[in-house]
Amino acid sequence: MSLPYKTTEEVRQTFLGHFLKHDHQLIEQSGIIPRNDPTLMFINSGMAPLKPYFTGQATPPYPRLTNVQDCIRFVDVESVGDSYHGTNFRMMGSWSFGDYFKERAIELAFELITEGFGIPAERLSATVFMADESLPGVPSDEESARIWEKFLPRERIIGRPPADNFWGPAGTSGPCGPCTEVFFDRGEEFAERKTDDVLVPGRHIEIWNAGVFMQYFKDEQGNFSPLPMKCVDTGAGLERFAMILQGRASIHEIDQYEPSYQLINQRIGDTAWTRIILDHLKTSILMIREGIVPSNTREGYLLRRALRRAMIGVFL
Ligand code: ALA
Repeated sequence: MSLPYKTTEEVRQTFLGHFLKHDHQLIEQSGIIPRNDPTLMFINSGMAPLKPYFTGQATPPYPRLTNVQDCIRFVDVESVGDSYHGTNFRMMGSWSFGDYFKERAIELAFELITEGFGIPAERLSATVFMADESLPGVPSDEESARIWEKFLPRERIIGRPPADNFWGPAGTSGPCGPCTEVFFDRGEEFAERKTDDVLVPGRHIEIWNAGVFMQYFKDEQGNFSPLPMKCVDTGAGLERFAMILQGRASIHEIDQYEPSYQLINQRIGDTAWTRIILDHLKTSILMIREGIVPSNTREGYLLRRALRRAMIGVFL
């Protein structure tokens, strides 16, 4: 069953409009080079430029904020070439600083996904934090599971260990906490492999980290201390939502990227390399736009790697 079509721009407007309607303030996005944050090479999430608001070092202009932030993340570079991973993406984000917490965050997420975007609840699952010995002292998030029960059947509310459902910090130190993520079921035909897991790679894709419940500060030595206030940090990939709502095969084929996709496709065909080239060129442009030049170290090295891999793809 197809979903209500939205252009990428409409997806962006729908997300921001929802949070503005619910008393959030729109803030400018940052450039992709972090300012005053030596723990991080690139802005990798909407919350990264807002770290001082979580720690109490700065006061946010309003307790509820929203924006769309360009991000670069090399952690998924090996998966680029599939339908939904990228080294760059635009993250639609919303935040509560010492204002609402789990219940309101989950209500706002469910309302936007089902009413704002028209995605049926039958195609959604939610994961919640499940404690294990890898992170002593952080209890399972039964509260979020109970809140999700208002919206989803118990079998589609899935406990996940810290490796999956504890987010942050962005960089080597900073705010972090347990999170709840929403997955969309694309249908059996998208399954990448057989598995006993209820969430099948390729078939169920994460569309929204609908709430990192920021409660801890992790320092450089790996110690956790409580944050001065409880906060919510959410992040949803604009391109993933657009892919789903446009019924496209990959995040590289959404309306805004269609012309460049076709250009490469005509030259080398529809392969994983088409998607890698597009992804890596976009990441390179984001970097070059901010003055990074290819080099042997840090950002410059990553730029060189991205450009080199994109060129290998063209000449293969
Ligand atoms: N900061 C969270 C993420 O990037 C929302 O997933």
